[in-house]
Amino acid sequence: MAERKYDQSLRVRTVGMREWRNGTNCYHRYEATPYKALDRLFQVYKLNKTDRVVDFGCGRGRVPFYIHNKFHIPVTGIEVHEKTYEEALHNKGSYRSQARHISAPIRLKYGLAEQYEVKGTDNIFYFFNPFSIEIFKQVVYNILQSIQEEPRMVDIILYYPVAEYKQFLQMHTPFQLITKVNVPGAAHKKEKFLIYRFKNNGKPDSAE
Ligand SMILES: C[S@@+](CC[C@H](N)C(=O)[O-])C[C@H]1O[C@@H](n2cnc3c(N)ncnc32)[C@H](O)[C@@H]1O
Repeated sequence: MAERKYDQSLRVRTVGMREWRNGTNCYHRYEATPYKALDRLFQVYKLNKTDRVVDFGCGRGRVPFYIHNKFHIPVTGIEVHEKTYEEALHNKGSYRSQARHISAPIRLKYGLAEQYEVKGTDNIFYFFNPFSIEIFKQVVYNILQSIQEEPRMVDIILYYPVAEYKQFLQMHTPFQLITKVNVPGAAHKKEKFLIYRFKNNGKPDSAE
């Protein structure tokens, strides 16, 4: 299904891009993960009823709405661009009007990803290249701190992974790469997902 049609089916508007006006290079521009990529990811990577997803830099909310609609689980999105955040809230109202039957909450928070207090129940963390490596490191340290307080299995999903994120996870954290999901017909080799896991319990290695 084309991007706009998919948006319409969820009653949201998430297409397009938005650059930061002041040209900050710490906070990256808005652009949504393509729906066809999300479709492919969740063909091979299944979420459970107990999973709680956080999208760091959720933009207009495409990923949280998509996951909520497909898996009926609680989702959280964090966004620091004021206008983009307002659009996400507007989308939530509209999406919710056709998804009242799904009781799981959708939480959209305005603020910095690096200041988000990771909940002991949050266990799937999604990143589509939202910010600089320095901010990414801080967010991952916050996740690791939360795991120390509440030991659990945690996955980090990277879409369009950049070398700095990959190197940091592999060389400086206990996260291990468990799955790579390619997107069929991708124009660029970075159009793929890498899934890293912090293993703490008996959940199997393969996400397939
Ligand atoms: C490439 S978009 C990804 C959007 C969404 N996650 C998706 O995949 O559809 C990155 C988003 O991160 C936001 N962002 C950048 N730095 C941030 C920060 N420090 N805290 C929260 N959001 C941030 C940007 O404003 C932008 O909307």
